[in-house]
Amino acid sequence: MIHVEGKVVVVTGAGAGIGRATAKLFADNGAKVVVTDVKQDQGEETVQQITSAGGDSMFLRHDVSSEEDWVRVLAAAKEQFGGIDVLVNNAGIYVIAPVTETTLEQWNKLFSINVTGVFLGAKHVVSYLVERGGGSIVNLSSVAGLLGAAGHACYGASKGAVRILTKDLAAELGPQNIRVNSIHPTYVKTAMADYGAAIAGKTLDEMGREMSVLGRLAEPEDVANVIVFLAADESRYLTGAEFVVDGGGGTSVLAV
Ligand SMILES: NC(=O)c1ccc[n+]([C@@H]2O[C@H](COP(=O)([O-])OP(=O)(O)OC[C@H]3O[C@@H](n4cnc5c(N)ncnc54)[C@H](O)[C@@H]3O)[C@@H](O)[C@H]2O)c1
Repeated sequence: MIHVEGKVVVVTGAGAGIGRATAKLFADNGAKVVVTDVKQDQGEETVQQITSAGGDSMFLRHDVSSEEDWVRVLAAAKEQFGGIDVLVNNAGIYVIAPVTETTLEQWNKLFSINVTGVFLGAKHVVSYLVERGGGSIVNLSSVAGLLGAAGHACYGASKGAVRILTKDLAAELGPQNIRVNSIHPTYVKTAMADYGAAIAGKTLDEMGREMSVLGRLAEPEDVANVIVFLAADESRYLTGAEFVVDGGGGTSVLAV
């Protein structure tokens, strides 16, 4: 049993993919989960799945690039559940394009969500975590935040920013007993992997065989397991660290 029971957890972008799997796993382990997403129907569906399984959850509409939204969402989370212990900065968008074809509008929009969203979340959640004597922030980066890849100038730069922002926050907030870590998956079976596979002209199974020594892409639950661990009491000495969830793909030469 991972000890997150009774913790109040805010998961952004929890209307789909990794965020939904994470919200459900927290709830399965007894946490109270604030599901936020820019898409109301999808977020409400996540809450429905949690409550019908006996969990405790609420949905709040939230654009992570909006500072006003952050202020409203965190206040409402405290109002409903009495405080906040964990923030999972999961919401993100993906663009694959050659740098010469990437528009400034695409760049700015992606950075406003993938980077500014993480900054705003950290900025506004700190006072709530301090009230509880500390807490955990988990930021979704990517292997694209560790290594370069063609077509990934915009997305990779955003995830690289999340990686170092995580370490800066860990250094600054450690004395307040707030831990901050980043997660670096390769392709996970969500809409993002579908998009990447379509551009590569490959199936998800082909990508799984090529990208992991385990021969498959990650399921959202494979990432959720690591996120919940990083929020749990058992990870109390882990901060400023990066957790690569890539099925061994980055550590081995895949020979044929
Ligand atoms: N799936 C992958 O292959 C993969 C790999 C590495 C990293 N990641 C990262 O993991 C995180 C989750 O990815 P996913 O695959 O589950 O994505 P997804 O597209 O399945 O879900 C993302 C969710 O974020 C929400 N969202 C988008 N913009 C938002 C905004 N401005 N404010 C609030 N919510 C917003 C969407 O509505 C959606 O519900 C992202 O940060 C992504 O970059 C994903």
